[in-house]
Amino acid sequence: MSSDILNNLNPGIEDLHPYEPGRSIDEVVAEFGHNEVVKLASNENPLGASPKALSILREFESDLHLYPDGNGTKLKKEIANYENIPFGNIIIGNGSNEILELAARAFLNPNTSSIASKHAFVVYKIVTQSAGASLIEVPACSWGHDLDSFSEHLEQSTRAIFIANPNNPTGTYNSHKEVHSLLKKVPSSVLVVLDCAYFDYVTKEDYVKPIDLLREFDNLLITKTFSKIHGLASIRVGYGLANPSLIEVLNRIRQPFNVNTLAQAMASVAINDHEHIRQSIELNSQQYEFLFDKLSQLGLECIPSVGNFIAFKGDFIGKEMFNDLLKKGVIVRPVDLYDMKDFIRVTIGTEAENLKFLTALEELL
Ligand SMILES: Cc1ncc(COP(=O)(O)O)c(C=O)c1O
Repeated sequence: MSSDILNNLNPGIEDLHPYEPGRSIDEVVAEFGHNEVVKLASNENPLGASPKALSILREFESDLHLYPDGNGTKLKKEIANYENIPFGNIIIGNGSNEILELAARAFLNPNTSSIASKHAFVVYKIVTQSAGASLIEVPACSWGHDLDSFSEHLEQSTRAIFIANPNNPTGTYNSHKEVHSLLKKVPSSVLVVLDCAYFDYVTKEDYVKPIDLLREFDNLLITKTFSKIHGLASIRVGYGLANPSLIEVLNRIRQPFNVNTLAQAMASVAINDHEHIRQSIELNSQQYEFLFDKLSQLGLECIPSVGNFIAFKGDFIGKEMFNDLLKKGVIVRPVDLYDMKDFIRVTIGTEAENLKFLTALEELL
């Protein structure tokens, strides 16, 4: 094939690599022939999907030939209720990644830039450079976002700021005060995206109150997802919250039926499955303490996390440890892409999953 076509690529795409998802259980079983594989690689919910969401699956057999509700009416009503905000402040997406992508497409182009922290969730770089814009990376502070210094990195060309709160893969978070004072400093013409994918896991008193910020700032876009606490990563639903004119702009460029019928229906029910949410938070808090202590006792350096995962470092190369753990039937995540070559990120699983991981890890250290 001639490479002429590749010469016309948008410049920012040249140094991007396809997003590397966690290895799947099927892949690892096929490669290593294990009977049992534990996947702690993608910050999924070890309790599985919301049982209430699962119970409605059969109802859809007769509707599968119909297009989804392009306005997401029922789901947006449930979100409005849950978040206590008007319907017009909500957009739903094929995962919250789609909302990030829509924001980049609406505001970024080759003459512009966005700002994100070093070690921040990689999708900010992907959506920025895919739009032809450049990413300004702010040095991290104790692995977290140094929001105080973000405004010093603003350039004339800056159109968007991405904040992962908590951040993946570090698990660090920023307080309400920190986010508020950044928003005060940023010109109201610059979009601030506050990515709260792990919102429900955070139990810190000073954590951000996104809806309070939304009432004060018209340049704020908050994103959340059904992939984590609700255990619905496979069906791809997320949402964005912002002032209605911003939502209207994002609606202009989204695909008409971006969230499928099944996903809308399951998410509508999962958001009200308070028992599943409660159990998921409880298991995560309990197992976080357990894993953090065990990893520390093994002499590994863990970054304190408020999410459902822990990044830790030891006397090893992350990618090698990842491969060695795969051979023992445990899937974790190397994070060299985040310039954290001697780290591994492990999702907090059930007690049994965590024990299997710890046993395998201990044998390898
Ligand atoms: C910080 C952060 N934001 C957004 C996402 C995207 O989630 P989804 O597209 O599944 O809603 C993830 C997924 O891992 C994440 O870690």
